[in-house]
Amino acid sequence: MTPLRVAIIGLGTVGTGVAKILLEHPDRMIRQAGRPIELKKAIVRDISRPRDITLPESVLSDDVQSVIEDDEIDLAVQLMGGIDPARKIMLSLLKAGKNVVTANKALLCEHGDELFQEARKQNRCIAFEAAVAGGIPIIHALGQSMTANQIVSIEAILNGTSNFILTEMLDKKRTYEDVLKQAQELGYAEADPAMDVDGTDAAQKLVILTQLAFGTKVNLEQFTRSGIDNLNLEDLEYADELGYKIKLLAVSKLINNELELHVQPTLVKKDRPLAAVDGAFNMVAMEGDAVGKTWYSGAGAGQMPTASAVVSDIIDIAIGRAQLGFDQLDLWQKQKPLPVCAADNITSRYYLRFHIEDKPHVFADIAAILGNNDISLASIIQHESSEDNVASNKSSAVQVPLVVMTHRTSRGNLISADKELEQLSSISAQRICLPVAD
Ligand SMILES: NC(=O)c1ccc[n+]([C@@H]2O[C@H](COP(=O)([O-])OP(=O)(O)OC[C@H]3O[C@@H](n4cnc5c(N)ncnc54)[C@H](OP(=O)(O)O)[C@@H]3O)[C@@H](O)[C@H]2O)c1
Repeated sequence: MTPLRVAIIGLGTVGTGVAKILLEHPDRMIRQAGRPIELKKAIVRDISRPRDITLPESVLSDDVQSVIEDDEIDLAVQLMGGIDPARKIMLSLLKAGKNVVTANKALLCEHGDELFQEARKQNRCIAFEAAVAGGIPIIHALGQSMTANQIVSIEAILNGTSNFILTEMLDKKRTYEDVLKQAQELGYAEADPAMDVDGTDAAQKLVILTQLAFGTKVNLEQFTRSGIDNLNLEDLEYADELGYKIKLLAVSKLINNELELHVQPTLVKKDRPLAAVDGAFNMVAMEGDAVGKTWYSGAGAGQMPTASAVVSDIIDIAIGRAQLGFDQLDLWQKQKPLPVCAADNITSRYYLRFHIEDKPHVFADIAAILGNNDISLASIIQHESSEDNVASNKSSAVQVPLVVMTHRTSRGNLISADKELEQLSSISAQRICLPVAD
């Protein structure tokens, strides 16, 4: 049996998990792949760093060129993260005739077009199950199991860090800053968590899913993206009172041959499966015209769940399955792109939260502005402020929260209403506006 010889480029969190599975389960690899999978090289930046794994002699190296030039290595697992030098290295690996497995969604999102073209030119393949939703086999589901369908919609929780923070805030009544710190200590959030909490990470994954589901090219600049970094505990509590959970929802829908795309904190009805996804877990809810609604959930990141997805790709390549499907993947092909619906035209119900002065006419002013912009109100919550609070603030007006749920309206209407609301001195600057996914 000729072994499949593999090099891992990047032996960090995920790379170490991949090496562990390959080294600890050789029999499983032979059983599943039909031949041995041999780890020939593992490339890192700093070979003197202590590692959480013992590798066979001469496997660890800091010389990526030794992989590119080694004709015995059939497959490279690209797990070094970032764009540069990851992009150049991946192109060189493909040009050197190697198939590539990667978990690097940022790289695929920005340079997938170029990388896929190179792979097709070289008659090689790129497998990337681990790039979206970690251990959940969503790329296989979309690329293989759903191919009888026209995908109609994808609604997904794709960032475990954000979901962990939202869950902890509501369950334990903790502040955003406090839970973010814990997420970093637990290793869920990066040292710089900006891309997790501002929606960028989820948006990069949505770009890949959308391209695969709809066979169209999209990029990050084409759609609205916001994160959980502006939310307060009170928003999660008001949503709870109204029968919703707030989730960082990534949405891609085909409506009248246009794509509706966005990533934003969204109110999700509590009886929907997406609302029940707590902690660092992910879920992808996908609807096809034949199959109807389907849900996929599990660990969206972490060493072993992500390594599980990477090794399944290695096995697919060892068998020859990945190469067979690669050319047919509806991804970074040359079809005419589908138009993306202008953000202002997207319609939804909305949750609005203001901090207003507790005095006459303020609500009337807000209602008038919303009404003038064609926004009709479905329900309102304003809890009574205590008399003590009012008494102790005689000199200045007391600020109280006001929550408004609207009927369906366009984002454009909300933006023009917000410009007028901004002028009202009785409303404080932080105004929250979130879509509702019923
Ligand atoms: N962590 C997760 O749960 C997860 C989940 C899904 C996808 N991903 C994706 O998987 C990829 C890897 O993530 P990770 O968390 O495993 O990253 P990581 O822990 O930061 O590991 C990166 C590895 O790459 C090596 N490296 C970096 N720059 C290099 C260079 N110029 N030359 C050679 N080696 C270099 C590092 O070497 P040193 O060890 O010497 O520093 C390290 O071993 C990323 O694209 C990430 O987005 C991660």
